Amino acid sequence: MFGSIINQYGNESELTFKTDIAVPAPKPNQVLIEVMASSVNPIDLMKREGYGRTIFEKQRKNLFPWILGSDFSGKIVDIGTKVTNFAIGDEVWGCSSNANCGTHAEFVCVDIDEVTHKPSNIDFLSAASLPYVALTTWSAIVRWAGLRPQDLDGKKIFIQGGAGGVGCFSIQLFKSLGCEIATTCSSKNIDLLKGLGADHVIDYNQSSFVDELSDFDIAYDLLGDSVLDNSIEKCCKILKPDPGSHYITLTHPFVKTLDSKGLILGTPHALYLRQKLKNEYRPINIYWSIYRPSLSGLEQLTDLVQDETIKPVIDSIFHLKDLSEAHSKVATGHVSGKVVIDHKND
Ligand SMILES: NC(=O)c1ccc[n+]([C@@H]2O[C@H](COP(=O)([O-])OP(=O)(O)OC[C@H]3O[C@@H](n4cnc5c(N)ncnc54)[C@H](OP(=O)(O)O)[C@@H]3O)[C@@H](O)[C@H]2O)c1
Repeated sequence: MFGSIINQYGNESELTFKTDIAVPAPKPNQVLIEVMASSVNPIDLMKREGYGRTIFEKQRKNLFPWILGSDFSGKIVDIGTKVTNFAIGDEVWGCSSNANCGTHAEFVCVDIDEVTHKPSNIDFLSAASLPYVALTTWSAIVRWAGLRPQDLDGKKIFIQGGAGGVGCFSIQLFKSLGCEIATTCSSKNIDLLKGLGADHVIDYNQSSFVDELSDFDIAYDLLGDSVLDNSIEKCCKILKPDPGSHYITLTHPFVKTLDSKGLILGTPHALYLRQKLKNEYRPINIYWSIYRPSLSGLEQLTDLVQDETIKPVIDSIFHLKDLSEAHSKVATGHVSGKVVIDHKND
């Protein structure tokens, strides 16, 4: 099969398009999917450079060659012996955690709890733009912060960094749940984010959100202290100082701490750092969120797309052969929506 591999950690020039990769065989609880489209997420760039090697290397049978990529949309071409809910030819989508074989390839084997039928009203390219960013936000809210979507009605939520893949999805989701939304972006993305449903859009080059916002219930920080100075402190300043307030960040030092100190020393150290922050900002609740798979989240996403509550936002489309260019685009840190990978058309 064809696919884009890396043979060692490094910059985007490590990405090599190959046509002689063995097609994986599905395990009993897996389906084999012909990938029509995938997407690039910042985590792909980070993994390419060796981020998370303490964890990801333990999950891989062979370290290299390594195929990256999580999102997929495509058609089922083979099913494992225990699979009863899919048939060959079904059009599906999802997000794979298969550490041995990512989705930047012609075929991928996916566990059946990470795939469902694709909404019929969007094409494969649009479909590949949503699962990872959507399930990231689903994990952040439901799994890590322990909030029920139905409890968010009327809440004031601030999304720091609203114009990327996660932000464009999250604005639409929180709007549909009845939230009042404030977000930040550069001037070129203001109209986009207003169109998605943001009530207050702040150009971060013109003013600081901390001077404009107050009495918020939730800060969903997509950038965090690893990208911006004093991001946690600023976000917490705009929250109500009470136990009903939540600060959730997607960028935090958990995996980096494991990489630098190893699993045995790194895990307690990261937990210590997190607890220190929790103590510092109490009564506000502080969460470090990490993407987790969720079949129920994927099924709810399917319904939200099918009824047009959520619409894909695509920044640009690259062919799989040009995956390194797609990585460079995401590396700018200034995409508007998602960078999608077309596996079929040259
Ligand atoms: N923990 C997890 O499991 C997890 C999962 C997914 C993502 N993430 C992380 O979450 C972050 C967002 O992911 P993504 O996929 O949405 O990234 P992305 O698609 O690359 O989006 C980056 C966005 O950041 C905005 N931005 C850059 N500087 C900004 C600033 N100073 N203030 C406000 N916005 C700014 C850009 O908007 P402008 O062009 O308008 O500046 C751009 O749209 C990334 O750091 C990613 O690594 C973590």
